[in-house]
Amino acid sequence: MSLRSAVNADVPVASPGEFRPLSLAEDLAVWPPVVLAPMAGVTNPPYRTLCRAQGAGLYVAEMVHARGLAEGDAKTLGLASFDDAEDVRSIQIFGADPPAMESAARFLVEEVGADHIDINMGCPVRKVTSRGGGSALPARPALMREVVASTVRGAGGKPVTVKTRLGLDDDHMTWQDAVDVAAGEGARWIGVHARTAAQLYSGKARWELLADIKDRSTIPVLGNGDVWEAFDALRMMRATGCDGVIIGRGCLGRPWLFRELADVFEGNEPADPPRLGDVLRILLEHAGLLVEFFGERKGVLELRKWCSWYTKGFPGAADVRKGLQTIASLEEMRGYLAQLDPDLPFPEKALRMSRAKRGGSQDKVSLPPGWLDLGAREAVEQRGGAGA
Ligand SMILES: Cc1cc2nc3c(=O)[nH]c(=O)nc-3n(C[C@H](O)[C@H](O)[C@H](O)COP(=O)(O)O)c2cc1C
Repeated sequence: MSLRSAVNADVPVASPGEFRPLSLAEDLAVWPPVVLAPMAGVTNPPYRTLCRAQGAGLYVAEMVHARGLAEGDAKTLGLASFDDAEDVRSIQIFGADPPAMESAARFLVEEVGADHIDINMGCPVRKVTSRGGGSALPARPALMREVVASTVRGAGGKPVTVKTRLGLDDDHMTWQDAVDVAAGEGARWIGVHARTAAQLYSGKARWELLADIKDRSTIPVLGNGDVWEAFDALRMMRATGCDGVIIGRGCLGRPWLFRELADVFEGNEPADPPRLGDVLRILLEHAGLLVEFFGERKGVLELRKWCSWYTKGFPGAADVRKGLQTIASLEEMRGYLAQLDPDLPFPEKALRMSRAKRGGSQDKVSLPPGWLDLGAREAVEQRGGAGA
């Protein structure tokens, strides 16, 4: 048996026909039913290339601001770039302005060649929610409906999906409205991170609610939150009935997780994760891709966090990791990496370590003024009037 943590000790690999491919479009099936979560500052072309080389699935580019795209902002356009080898171009947009979402979707399809557009309705950060985007949007059911409908229209037949959280906080759960709107306005699937926006990344993802979401939804549901090992994906799908999984932090500095996922969904026991020497070879490959894409200066700055994620949990690496946080060149990086013992096996404890966004919640999700009142009114109207 391959290296697993105790929680997965008895989980069997998939049996033949147990899971089905996700249908993103008539001619576009995703197998295994696994999606690399869009992650800002992470799922850029170099990292998508690295993950794609490990396995199959769908690899979503980081979020871009719809209005930034519509206005031709250079930085936003840079984020919406794809490698020539990416035969499925998948990207996420955020915003709360229906016309901007429509033009952004149209631009992405017509000018960037996007094959898939995901709408961000889950981002919990102030910069996004205070303008009504991300996790704020599902609290306004009518506006959300317009946003999804406009994006679908702009995408002109290319598939649109939605990614959301359970709600703003425990008193303002929004997943029911999000599911209804996504299904009603033609989204191909809805992905749900099983935490509220107030929770950020704290506590455990509430997989039990994913089963309720699956019960309500007439479109496929992708579960998200706390899939750290390939066997977690099987466990989540078996426990909730979800049609697929979205994987974020688990693959940071562990692109081979996609190889393991491909194996377990095919019914095969995966190989053990790589020893430190092989991890470092992958890190060096990643470094090369980052420098090629961003240039050495920015590429090396980007690399600092990756160095820490790839070496996380290996014994004796803490001091080297500290040094790696200061690197200014590839040569310096190689110098630090040479101090590590290549024979160290991948530590079991590193399987479930969060490599980003640890701890902490927020008391209140920052919203535009009057947002919840407007949302309450819209909810009443959607149900056909106050007396209905
Ligand atoms: C560094 C980082 C950046 C993220 N950026 C985005 C983003 O751009 N869009 C989005 O929908 N979610 C974003 N997320 C959330 C993830 O997509 C995912 O929903 C979350 O990490 C929970 O999944 P996990 O437990 O597998 O990590 C980000 C998460 C991380 C750690």
